[in-house]
Amino acid sequence: MSFPPHDSAVTQGFVVTAPGRINLIGEHTDYNDGLVLPMAIDRHVSIRVTPRADRLAVWSSARESEVVTFDLSSAISRDVRGWAAYPAGVIAGFQKLGWEIPGFDAAVSADLPAGGGLSSSAALEVATATVLEVLGGISLPLPVKALLCQQAEHEYAGVPCGIMDQFAVTLARAGHALLLDCRDQSVRYVPMDGQAVSILVINSGVKHALVDGEYARRRAECAHAARLLGVVSLRDVTSADLQSRGGVLPELERKRVRHVTGEHDRTLAFVAALGRADWKSAGEAMFASHESLRADYEVSCPELDALVDISRSIPGVYGCRMTGGGFGGCVIALVASDKLESAAASFRQAYLARTKIDPVMFVTRPAGGPAVMKISQ
Ligand code: GLA
Repeated sequence: MSFPPHDSAVTQGFVVTAPGRINLIGEHTDYNDGLVLPMAIDRHVSIRVTPRADRLAVWSSARESEVVTFDLSSAISRDVRGWAAYPAGVIAGFQKLGWEIPGFDAAVSADLPAGGGLSSSAALEVATATVLEVLGGISLPLPVKALLCQQAEHEYAGVPCGIMDQFAVTLARAGHALLLDCRDQSVRYVPMDGQAVSILVINSGVKHALVDGEYARRRAECAHAARLLGVVSLRDVTSADLQSRGGVLPELERKRVRHVTGEHDRTLAFVAALGRADWKSAGEAMFASHESLRADYEVSCPELDALVDISRSIPGVYGCRMTGGGFGGCVIALVASDKLESAAASFRQAYLARTKIDPVMFVTRPAGGPAVMKISQ
């Protein structure tokens, strides 16, 4: 199946952007068939595309010196390493669907930090998929596109991630978070555009790397616990079940399950609190989530803990927690909008004093999903 360029966007070139994401709450629950509440942020990966007459895809990146070329007339090898593994995996996914992709140059840039736990990899994957859709003149159904990108991450980047990041980026809607049920993949859009509170993202400056095995180990521990409890996934276990049947679990698995079941309850409590504009309760759920990720799930690090600890004494901060996979990356804080400036200054001063790291931080709002812009000549 081949797809001739269908309009001037394709012949003249175009730019695709895809957002990063934060996860408000519901952490390390997606691969347990649980609930997550991510939202896309107004920081993006961009790909500037210029069609070529041949069947090569020539990728360059503003952040990397290497140029990577794929021959689109044959299957893309799994040996691609580094940042180019993400586009490679997505192109391979489209090839498997039978798409004959025409040649193009792709120049990648981003105002989204890499390794900050803000899903720069999912943004690059979803942006790549959108590029291929534009070149092909056909759009995949959104969940199919998200799952194809997740598959790319598994097979080409070697990260056994859940579905949260790719769904958050692909299905994002401005002004809303997505309450995604990872069991049936249904989405409820939760309005998040109030003026009273703002979300401050603070980068610990510690690069997170999910490839190093800890993430896969957590997945395995959860699967093991589910087997011991005789359920398909930990979604089938409630906090009450853990009380009554948790005796069959070794101590480590019990801690992991306590996080997952508690996080389910906290996610529902957080969504309900948002609906009542009850920022205090929403913030408490965030603090409790962080504590559980630190003590029971053991995916935090001293720098993330320091930021959360600091936040507890800053006026106007309702809640704060690590966001994403952990082991570094960012925290998010729910802050009264009229206290934003002073809160940001307090974070900076205290974190610098404790760690000697000057943290990069920004205020964000819920952004929309991927976008395509024509290049006018
Ligand atoms: C990473 C993964 C997601 C999810 C989070 C933890 O971001 O890519 O699938 O598991 O960690 O909530």
